[in-house]
Amino acid sequence: MSDMNVARSMRIVNVSSVPHRSPFRYPGGKTWLVPYARCWLRSLTPSAVELVEPFAGGASIGLTAVFENLADRATLVELDADIAAVWQTILNGHAEKLAEDVSRFEMSRGAVTALLACPPHSLYERAFATLVRNRVQRGGILAPGASLMKDGERGRGVSSRWYPETLRRRILAIAAMKRRITFVHGDGVDFLRRNAQRRDVAWFIDPPYTVAGRRLYTHSTIDHEELFQVASTLAGGFLITYDNTPEIRFLAARYRFDTTEVAMKNTHHARMAELLVGRNLDWVRAEQASPASGQFVLQIPPG
Ligand SMILES: C[S@@+](CC[C@H](N)C(=O)[O-])C[C@H]1O[C@@H](n2cnc3c(N)ncnc32)[C@H](O)[C@@H]1O
Repeated sequence: MSDMNVARSMRIVNVSSVPHRSPFRYPGGKTWLVPYARCWLRSLTPSAVELVEPFAGGASIGLTAVFENLADRATLVELDADIAAVWQTILNGHAEKLAEDVSRFEMSRGAVTALLACPPHSLYERAFATLVRNRVQRGGILAPGASLMKDGERGRGVSSRWYPETLRRRILAIAAMKRRITFVHGDGVDFLRRNAQRRDVAWFIDPPYTVAGRRLYTHSTIDHEELFQVASTLAGGFLITYDNTPEIRFLAARYRFDTTEVAMKNTHHARMAELLVGRNLDWVRAEQASPASGQFVLQIPPG
């Protein structure tokens, strides 16, 4: 496909029209992909009973599936122990305390430094420190080496991404859905392999990026070939999203998967394309060709 045709086939998603439900501001988060995920889940026959995110991170698609009744249940799998602590705390009965502590925390550079100087002694403390770090470190990055934001937005420093009321509401809303959400602290590829035969599951697979993953995540090393091989054995529907690299296009072709690009703009307003991979992505092309779909302009809302 020529560059011009690729550009024409891409639609920019209006993220401001998509509810943010995750407690995280997640690097590589897929809130912008929600309109496509809705189309995908509605296109599945029979419809999925359970949506699994084997690389959950901020779990924007898993949460959407449950909140919008696009699946009965969601299972979130994540390897990172800090991220896991947040999901476990919200889902294991400590969400109210977490929400209250977020509300009460008096955000300042000094308070953050004091909090992060003490190693957490419990899962709860780890969850709270992770939520704070996610809000005060540059780009929400939690990987080792990430630094505190300096001036932040409009010179608000570490407070510039700290929205305690919003965060409190999101934590409580997720807790209210806890009977429909399961969290697994573990390896996503392993989980995929062990559940490959399940027909009632739809898989939203968003692994660490091949290029930027190392900078963004504590766990970023994935055997991409192995992931494609496991995906080829899945009985249920799946949607994989990746950075658009020759390596990934090559793997998709080898496993005879369908691919298409979708467009986004990042927080610096640069236009970027992401590669979707699946068995049959006609639903994407139908959506993009629909006169109703229009042309959207992406804005990243705060939070
Ligand atoms: C691209 S992010 C997912 C973002 C997510 N879709 C969202 O909307 O927030 C990839 C995630 O995979 C996690 N991860 C890396 N290796 C993993 C593994 N082997 N098993 C499970 N999760 C893993 C990373 O910690 C990171 O949170």
